[in-house]
Amino acid sequence: MVKKQGARSWALIGVVFMVQALSASAQSTAPLQGLVQRLLPRAYHRNFDFQIVPDITPANPENKYDVFRVSNKNNAATGTRVLIEGTTVAALGRGLKYYLDQAAEIELAWTGDRFDELPRMPPPVPDVELDTMVTVTTGHVRGSFVPHRYYTNVVTFGYQFAFWDWKRWEREIDWMLLNGINLLPAMVGQEYVTRQFFRNLSLTDQDLDSFFTGPVFQPWQRMGNLQGSWQHGLLNTSATNELVYKNKFIDSQWALQQRILTRLREFGITAILPAFQGFVPQALPAKFPNAVFKKSSNWSGFPAEHTQVTYLLQTDPLFNNFTAQFLKLQQELNGGYTSHYYLLDLYNELTPDCQTPACSRATTTSVTHALQSVDKDAVWAMQGWFLTNTTAWNPENTSAYFAGIKDANGTPFIMDLAAESKGLAVWDDTDGFYGNDFGWSALNNFGAAQGMFGKLSSIFSAPFEVYNKYPNMKGIGVTAESINNNEYVYSALLDLAWHNPKQPVDQAEHLSRFVRRRYGPNRASTTVQSAFATLSKTVWDAPAGQLSQSKSFVEKVPALNMYTGPTAWLGTVYNYNKTEVVGAWTKLVQAALIDNRSNVPKTFKFDLVDLTREVLLGSTVLPALHKNLVDAYTAKDIPEVRAAGRQVIALITDINTLLNSHRLFSFGTNVRDARESIDPIARSGYVQFPASANGPSKAGYQQFLESNARDLVTWWGPNSGDLADYASKQWGGLLSSYYLPRWTLFIEELEQAVTAGKEWDRDAYIAKTLVREAGWQKEVWGRNPGESWETNGQEPTEVVRELYHKWGATAVRVAAGGMA
Ligand SMILES: *[C@@H]1O[C@H](CO)[C@@H](O)[C@H](O)[C@H]1NC(C)=O
Ligand SMILES: *[C@@H]1O[C@H](CO)[C@@H](O)[C@H](O)[C@H]1NC(C)=O
Ligand SMILES: *[C@@H]1O[C@H](CO)[C@@H](O)[C@H](O)[C@H]1NC(C)=O
Ligand SMILES: *[C@@H]1O[C@H](CO)[C@@H](O)[C@H](O)[C@H]1NC(C)=O
Ligand SMILES: *[C@@H]1O[C@H](CO)[C@@H](O)[C@H](O)[C@H]1NC(C)=O
Ligand SMILES: *[C@@H]1O[C@H](CO)[C@@H](O)[C@H](O)[C@H]1NC(C)=O
Ligand SMILES: *[C@@H]1O[C@H](CO)[C@@H](O)[C@H](O)[C@H]1NC(C)=O
Ligand SMILES: *[C@@H]1O[C@H](CO)[C@@H](O)[C@H](O)[C@H]1NC(C)=O
Repeated sequence: MVKKQGARSWALIGVVFMVQALSASAQSTAPLQGLVQRLLPRAYHRNFDFQIVPDITPANPENKYDVFRVSNKNNAATGTRVLIEGTTVAALGRGLKYYLDQAAEIELAWTGDRFDELPRMPPPVPDVELDTMVTVTTGHVRGSFVPHRYYTNVVTFGYQFAFWDWKRWEREIDWMLLNGINLLPAMVGQEYVTRQFFRNLSLTDQDLDSFFTGPVFQPWQRMGNLQGSWQHGLLNTSATNELVYKNKFIDSQWALQQRILTRLREFGITAILPAFQGFVPQALPAKFPNAVFKKSSNWSGFPAEHTQVTYLLQTDPLFNNFTAQFLKLQQELNGGYTSHYYLLDLYNELTPDCQTPACSRATTTSVTHALQSVDKDAVWAMQGWFLTNTTAWNPENTSAYFAGIKDANGTPFIMDLAAESKGLAVWDDTDGFYGNDFGWSALNNFGAAQGMFGKLSSIFSAPFEVYNKYPNMKGIGVTAESINNNEYVYSALLDLAWHNPKQPVDQAEHLSRFVRRRYGPNRASTTVQSAFATLSKTVWDAPAGQLSQSKSFVEKVPALNMYTGPTAWLGTVYNYNKTEVVGAWTKLVQAALIDNRSNVPKTFKFDLVDLTREVLLGSTVLPALHKNLVDAYTAKDIPEVRAAGRQVIALITDINTLLNSHRLFSFGTNVRDARESIDPIARSGYVQFPASANGPSKAGYQQFLESNARDLVTWWGPNSGDLADYASKQWGGLLSSYYLPRWTLFIEELEQAVTAGKEWDRDAYIAKTLVREAGWQKEVWGRNPGESWETNGQEPTEVVRELYHKWGATAVRVAAGGMA
């Protein structure tokens, strides 16, 4: 890991420089102090000392990366001062999380924090490690057994981050530092570099128009799966204006990226920067008649104009030249900065042009040389996902691919995206990536699918096993496609890096401490703990060989048989014991209602909403009501069709109310984020438009953004094609405006069919549904009754209580195998 050390010493040099610039402890720790001031109560702001100490001896030899030591430093005048020492800034951040856990049993979560419940003054560091019960004399020392802890995969930038503003990014980067993350694909705003790069090659913005996608689809454009945007088609507005909007978005994201990169550097988090990927606008080949350009394969059934992206053959001499120009330009635009880590996915879900091992080898050699021609310390970061196609990537081809990098003395780092799933994990098909450095990561929500999914058994065992077998496993990562879900699963994986890989983690203890941090020790009752213990063995522990994710019926187009989907991603399979899960739900609901309701923390409210949704719409009541409906239709029983239909509608309506009570389950807040992303760094007047009839306007821009947000979670493309409902969501407002009308029409048609003595005509139904959905794509949120930007103001715990009384008994009955 020679290159890696380079990056690490960069962080150290930065810190040392700041130390010299101003008084020692004050300056070197400024970024950490800033984080403390953003997150913790005022009385805590002056009570932490952070120090970089290069040589802390790790508690055991394996855990030698980013070592921290947490101890008290008593100061009679101000009470306890906490001393956090670390070998890197990343270590200091993780040390602070460790302190908050050990001394106060509290943490920052996506779904909320309880920092307002901290004691008035920082509590002392305990004399005993709460998790191991080891007595501590000279401070608590921990380190990571892998040098890299990384976060997200490239599509998360479309599914989750596309419309974030700086405030939200800042909070997320704080969360990353606390969780020990020190490697992050930094993909925001890269089109700014790409656009300038192609302008320099004398392409016009019109030439680029058929290349750049809308904001949420950018990740797939970057990987050569997609090109061009289709919002004007969905909205039936001017394509010329759309080009203006895309450019505005690119500009605003670049401003955001500058802030992100600055903060990552302050925090010692290595940014994985984009590289020239080879994909080019269709107008480019004409300008380089001597170079070899090809078209990549069709992706996900998209119309030809939006896929089959043109690319420059990687072995063409021009590839080297373009890579060099691109990386130099990027570095120039980033004020001279580079991280030496570059992301380059040559074949993500694409059929390689190369069909032989020799050609694969020549390709990767050429790419490696290209990167090194600008940056001799270049690390080629890539996602291992393309290797999941084992038809193309048999051992012969895969080893040749990596041999080519070695031929050029290159340094790859491969992120094995779904390493916890048999059949999707690449490390076990490639003998640990044939000795190349790789990271083990978990991905439980393809398409940012919503639900309680995970494979905890694998997560708690495989990373240690794999590391002990393959010392070239150098990282642990969370590669979720969206966040705000399944926090325990991700938190467990990230935490694992800080455990001794030679000793199994006590899972029950680990979970119980998470629950105490999440809800507060006083609310982590036996009942609550038991509910979580059940969830960790059911929803979060899908059996080996099974996909953990499952699509709720509510998000799919209603049909007579709904379990299977056109693709595995749209299948509905709940492999867990439903009685157990309903039991866990009951316990959590009861625990929340015993407590003073205004006193239930945000994290608890989130979990209540999430589990209620999972139980009622996912695994129990909705499928059972659907069965009643279909049985009544088959039996040609009109009153029963009506009765079952009314129940389906009542359930969806009730859950819509529940989801609308919580910001993180609200479509309105998603649309608002999209519309407000015109100005992600809050510079007022940043987006100006000249006044002109039918020309680009703020309203038009915002509708373009809204259309992106709507399209992604519904049609996922220019029409209802192969990816329809792939990224669907159980969100308040989306249920009522998009899914419920599908269900209502379905129920009406079944009743009409029985009345008329005919078979239900599925094709006619789909056709009608598509017409309505096309209209929905064009709508502007807030114009129809009940479309609110905020939550409905109802208390989630109250709504959960009502729904539990109304539907709980049915859920219990259905889970046990009975009828709804
Ligand atoms: C391209 O354009 C930018 C900005 O105008 C310029 O700074 C850069 O050096 C140009 N040339 C190359 C080869 O990238
Ligand atoms: C799009 O708008 C044009 C002009 O207003 C109209 O003629 C055309 O029918 C519309 N197309 C669709 C599909 O709505
Ligand atoms: C890709 O799809 C287009 C239609 O969209 C079709 O004409 C073409 O044959 C397909 N190409 C391949 C390589 O499958
Ligand atoms: C790329 O090729 C052009 C044209 O031959 C040349 O002017 C330029 O210097 C090259 N750039 C790099 C970075 O190699
Ligand atoms: C992999 O190798 C086999 C035989 O060596 C070849 O037929 C196949 O097309 C190769 N695939 C790729 C993607 O190189
Ligand atoms: C896997 O690769 C083969 C050979 O390149 C290709 O024919 C096939 O379509 C790929 N499968 C998938 C699921 O992409
Ligand atoms: C499901 O869990 C319940 C309650 O623990 C238990 O009684 C039942 O036997 C379990 N069912 C199966 C199929 O394991
Ligand atoms: C519940 O908590 C709130 C806020 O902490 C407090 O004002 C109220 O008095 C409490 N009610 C009961 C019954 O404890």
